[in-house]
Amino acid sequence: MTTLHEYLESADCEPDLCTLIKLIAEQAQPIREAFITHQAYVESENVYGERQAAMDTWSDELITRVLGESGLVRELSSEEQDEIRTFPRAKADYAVVMDPMDGSSLIQTNLAVGTIVGIFGGGKVLQRGRGLKAALYMLYGPMTTLTLTLGKGVCIFAMDHGGVYRLLEQDVRIPDGNLYGTGGGRPDWTDPHTAFIAAIEANGAKLRYTGSYVADFHQILKYGGIYCYPALKGKPTGKLRLLYEAIPIGFIAEQAGGAITDGSVDLLDVEPTEPHQRTPIYVGSMNMIRRAKEIFERSRA
Ligand code: F6P
Ligand code: MN
Repeated sequence: MTTLHEYLESADCEPDLCTLIKLIAEQAQPIREAFITHQAYVESENVYGERQAAMDTWSDELITRVLGESGLVRELSSEEQDEIRTFPRAKADYAVVMDPMDGSSLIQTNLAVGTIVGIFGGGKVLQRGRGLKAALYMLYGPMTTLTLTLGKGVCIFAMDHGGVYRLLEQDVRIPDGNLYGTGGGRPDWTDPHTAFIAAIEANGAKLRYTGSYVADFHQILKYGGIYCYPALKGKPTGKLRLLYEAIPIGFIAEQAGGAITDGSVDLLDVEPTEPHQRTPIYVGSMNMIRRAKEIFERSRA
């Protein structure tokens, strides 16, 4: 079976970008081991006032150190760090955005969580999603998988017992489908979101939501449907972050034939103004994205 290394060689990937992707993917092994030793919460909050699980800070520090030492990354913005990190002596000019441990509130329940990464060229992290050179996520479930796009379709790899990633699936396409997951409490939903959920449920949509965005999205990628974290009453930008959560996953969705929107605009076209900005997210199959857009458009009319 094709290894990640062989795939990157055959995909004609820039050599430094190949090295960077392999370096990030390799961190899945120490991260998996640390799940055993870093179960407890630490007494700190991240920039959003969320309690940080020990794994949040641990994986953030690990990946930050490895990327800093690689000499390939000029800027790094992590969901877990207040400020953008710069590495002025880097010899390459990649810029990385990451959510080092998405879904971390589920670690103690042993549900799947993951690491989400977007890689830009040009040394700056504040760029539109459509400018990404690569996006990937590692999903720590029963298997460790790597879902990757270099902007030429999506591949899924699984790590074998020797730590080697082997190609499970290539040219992954999101089928039209009828699964959905939505964040936010029902009383806090806005009228268009309530109308959208009612419309898809009337059409037979079935709820599946764990509370781990990366895992919930992976299910949508495989089976079709939509993941939503909507605008909420009193929280018009919702909960999830444009740079770390929307952009890399949206790029993967689009490369698989799906799309990402906030209800009106394609989130890959949004120019970020600050690293931690939030956005409502609707990401998944085209049948669902079209429906969401129709309903939101009607609500604006
Ligand atoms: O990173 C934020 C996150 O943990 C996502 O992984 C997840 O989808 C969401 O928050 C869950 O939020 P809630 O508990 O409000 O459903
Ligand atoms: Mn997250």
